[in-house]
Amino acid sequence: MKFDGKFSESSRRWLDRQKRDPYVKKAVSEGYRSRAAYKLIEIDDKFHLIKNAKTIVDIGAAPGGWSQVLAERSAADTKIAAIDLLKFNPIGDKVHQFFGDFENEDLQKKIVEYLGDNANLVVSDMAPATLGHRQSDHLRIMGLVESAYFFAQQVLKKGGSFVAKIFQGGEEKNFFDKLKHEFQTAKFFKPKASRSESVEIYVVAIGYKGESN
Ligand SMILES: C[S@@+](CC[C@H](N)C(=O)[O-])C[C@H]1O[C@@H](n2cnc3c(N)ncnc32)[C@H](O)[C@@H]1O
Repeated sequence: MKFDGKFSESSRRWLDRQKRDPYVKKAVSEGYRSRAAYKLIEIDDKFHLIKNAKTIVDIGAAPGGWSQVLAERSAADTKIAAIDLLKFNPIGDKVHQFFGDFENEDLQKKIVEYLGDNANLVVSDMAPATLGHRQSDHLRIMGLVESAYFFAQQVLKKGGSFVAKIFQGGEEKNFFDKLKHEFQTAKFFKPKASRSESVEIYVVAIGYKGESN
């Protein structure tokens, strides 16, 4: 279909907001592919998860802002598996891209074949295309987060960390309790780069206790 030069009201609001957003400007001037990069920067400035991680999984990685931050802040011999439904331009030697639905078991097997089961850090910024119905969006992202965490349990080393985006809405409490039990510490964290009007928040869980716990 040919673009007729007119935007819908919601597209126009989105474009206006992008133009005014300081993180969008910063991302352009500093060479990050997404404003989301600043959320991981804030998380890492506070919790220091990346520097010593040699094996990292980045779930929901396109267009690659978080992978850029992971590559910049990790050691030269770090391996990063970056997964998304969408392809994105390569990011140097450390980042190996897996293309497809993260919930697909065959894809998960390929990631494990590539990385092994000794990940130090699993991050998920995965988000479903939102429907605008708050509770449905909440339930859909909680489904994705549960899959990310189920996978993290298969690959995380003892002492490893897990970071994931959720949309607040009720179900996150049970999930958070599980993390509190299975990690040394678990916290909710709302980066400044996450829009204040958004229900988005991150869980940061550090010190995986492993299966025996
Ligand atoms: C907010 S964006 C991630 C931004 C990214 N962290 C960055 O800094 O560039 C969320 C991503 O989750 C991906 N996603 C959603 N559902 C997915 C699924 N089932 N499997 C893989 N990726 C998924 C979307 O395609 C989208 O690219």
